[in-house]
Amino acid sequence: MKLAPSLLAADLADIAGALETCRRGGADLLHFDVMDGHFVPNLSFGIPVLRACARRQMLPIDVHLMVEQPGQLLEAYLDAGPAWLSVHYEATVHLDRVLALIRARGVGAGVALNPTTPVEVLEDSLPLLDFVLLMSVNPGFGGQAFLPYTLDKARRLREMIRRRGLAVQIEMDGGIGLDNIAAAAAAGVDVCVAGSSVFSTADPAEAIRRLREEALRVHTI
Ligand code: DX5
Ligand code: ZN
Repeated sequence: MKLAPSLLAADLADIAGALETCRRGGADLLHFDVMDGHFVPNLSFGIPVLRACARRQMLPIDVHLMVEQPGQLLEAYLDAGPAWLSVHYEATVHLDRVLALIRARGVGAGVALNPTTPVEVLEDSLPLLDFVLLMSVNPGFGGQAFLPYTLDKARRLREMIRRRGLAVQIEMDGGIGLDNIAAAAAAGVDVCVAGSSVFSTADPAEAIRRLREEALRVHTI
């Protein structure tokens, strides 16, 4: 299981400190939530902050664009140096073109699905993808409760990927903590995003390590 702590839940007055904490805790990726106040009813951070984080080269950055028409600023996001970038299925009219642009720049291409968007809409786009981000809360805010029905989506998607013999990774995002990370792993999730369950603890680096341990338990029970 890969772990991607979400910067949204960190102390944004000390982003460098948050990056260092994630590195110390052994995080695999830094999850970077971009919100535009339209696709989701909230704003977060954008290209200048992404550029600043990428320049530190502490961790590969996993950009999650919760924005309408992500194609418009795509080149600028790609120039800022992410390792992975996902756009929302619900917000992207020309998904094929957008995914091809991301891949052409050597960046991992992902599609994010809102909780009620069925995984079956990706049947034809799976070969164009490096990962699928399954939202396990409604996008827009950190600290929300995990929606258990999204685990069944992970299982169905895992089966679709297996049937096609593809190497697409499954990322799950929202409400993940010690109480449900093992269930996510068992459902076939490869990457878990964790915001509050990392940064709202007294020792976020230790929280990352404990989440990983808990996810690994799946293989021993
Ligand atoms: C929600 C964001 C998530 C969020 C997760 O819209 O996409 O990445 O930061 O935060 P937690 O883990 O607190 O639900
Ligand atoms: Zn996210």
